[in-house]
Amino acid sequence: MLEKVLEYSAARAYYDRFGEMQDRQGFYEDPALNELIAHASFHDAQSVFEFGCGTGKFADWILKNHLPSSARYLGCDISPVMVGLAKKRLEAYGERAKVILSDGTVRFPLPDHSVDHIVSSYVLDILSEEDIQRFLSESRRVVSFRGKICLASLTRGVTIPSRIVSSLWMIIFRMHPSIVGGCRPIHIESYIDKKQWQLEHQRVLTPFGVSSEVLILISMC
Ligand SMILES: C[S@@+](CC[C@H](N)C(=O)[O-])C[C@H]1O[C@@H](n2cnc3c(N)ncnc32)[C@H](O)[C@@H]1O
Repeated sequence: MLEKVLEYSAARAYYDRFGEMQDRQGFYEDPALNELIAHASFHDAQSVFEFGCGTGKFADWILKNHLPSSARYLGCDISPVMVGLAKKRLEAYGERAKVILSDGTVRFPLPDHSVDHIVSSYVLDILSEEDIQRFLSESRRVVSFRGKICLASLTRGVTIPSRIVSSLWMIIFRMHPSIVGGCRPIHIESYIDKKQWQLEHQRVLTPFGVSSEVLILISMC
């Protein structure tokens, strides 16, 4: 079933209002992001692109603790408030870290096969199905051969309590998507063409009854 998602302008307005409150979502996001870091081999990356970087929390985390000191980071976001917060947070990294404002369309401002790792956490679950497909084809275009895309998104529950949570979430999303920030549980693996991507790691984590799917894919093209 095709879900009606937030228009770009509504997503921008929501995340402009939400701003720093995004960092309080760590209670369900951080376990998934730790899992991503544990399997993404950031220590091998020389360039990282993040789609929907929010406040720059994840970028700060990997620049400080996981990326080589020579590695560069580029983040983009649709929300001017988020871009402002991320730029301020990443100021200390100078030329190594850049953040740009996007118009919401899923087009990456990068040449073909120019980046080692692409990251996107809790953003694909806001996008339409067409934009998720565009995200994957843009990722295939810009990532280097054997480069990685590292994803975390809300997903359907896998236990009885988390199934109840995700069903209620879906009901609220269908009635008023902006109440849940335009996010809904998705199954990223179902969008993946296994001829183009090697599935390196997949796990569903469910802290506090909220399920997240973590996926690491390696480009075969
Ligand atoms: C739920 S937040 C997640 C932020 C961050 N990745 C994190 O995990 O903390 C979603 C982010 O995606 C951004 N976003 C939503 N739609 C977008 C789009 N079409 N293009 C770029 N960014 C988008 C929002 O502005 C917001 O910062």
